[in-house]
Amino acid sequence: MSNQSDVVNVVVSGAAGQIGYSLVFNIVRGDMFGIDQKVRVVLLDIAPMMDSLKGLILEIEDGCFPLVSEVIATSDPKEAFTNIDYAILVGGMPRKEGMERVDLLRANAAIFKVQGKAINDYAKKTVKVLVVANPANTNAFIALANAPNIPPENFSCLTRLDHNRAKAQIAAKAGVSVKDVHNVIVWGNHSLTIYPDTRYGYINLPSGKSTVASVIKNDQWLTNDFVSTVQKRGAAVIAARKLSSAASAAKAITDHMRDWALGTPEGEYVSMGVYSDGSYNVPAGVIFSFPVTIKNGVYSIVPGLPIDQITRDRIDLTAKELVEEKDMAVKILAEN
Ligand code: LMR
Repeated sequence: MSNQSDVVNVVVSGAAGQIGYSLVFNIVRGDMFGIDQKVRVVLLDIAPMMDSLKGLILEIEDGCFPLVSEVIATSDPKEAFTNIDYAILVGGMPRKEGMERVDLLRANAAIFKVQGKAINDYAKKTVKVLVVANPANTNAFIALANAPNIPPENFSCLTRLDHNRAKAQIAAKAGVSVKDVHNVIVWGNHSLTIYPDTRYGYINLPSGKSTVASVIKNDQWLTNDFVSTVQKRGAAVIAARKLSSAASAAKAITDHMRDWALGTPEGEYVSMGVYSDGSYNVPAGVIFSFPVTIKNGVYSIVPGLPIDQITRDRIDLTAKELVEEKDMAVKILAEN
């Protein structure tokens, strides 16, 4: 476990939304920081949502969660981010019909600029930040670009949902439990170009450890349908629910933060959108989903995985998209 204090301070932005409603209960139950870790939870949202957050606080009280030291609701970034250990940025401007990518980025740049500055000025210097709102990778880049006093390694974005989706697809196809599937990972942008990769993955069978490919025995499926199912899963949920994923996103956020705070099991890879240091020839400075391992609150990009041509092309494609988004964001930030 990293150096956790008596009480950890966590802020959730967009807390009055659907993800928030599920996520906050995961936090107060101890799913994120452990069943012995007290938490102070700050619910941040825009002013019109304060009544709804009051209701959420009433429900948290009524849930009798022994780990809760305090829960507050606020719309003020200074109050929200002061002394924060963990910032989970769920609130953003969703894409509306007819909106261009640049318009979506512009709307979100305004939000993540303010939040990045507030994190810079008021949060602990050791704060760990997770951006969930889309475009998550580039929103995380915007936040860190506005927080020069916080190391860029402290900013991340959520690709654990794609990682979990990939793992679940493999488990279903192999007819095993998800707990027996390991080291299936996702590369790149949380978008249609994200690349789920099973080549380092393995499955624990009663007979022993086997590669994913040797259990599935269907390379065609692994290279095509599997990849596109994971890439389009968010859209499939929206088409069915008429709403974005919520509980599965909250579970993925919980997995991401729990592993970052408490570490990954020996030899286990998880996927996190993190600041590229140029590993795997991904341009430095974009927020890119890599396989990582985590110890003592610090993640390390898994080094030296062999990259074949198909993977190289997929990594380059998703990296190109991220470089374009980053360039767009830099331009937008320079405008104001
Ligand atoms: C998801 O992956 O479920 C979401 O990011 C989809 C979306 O566009 O809200």
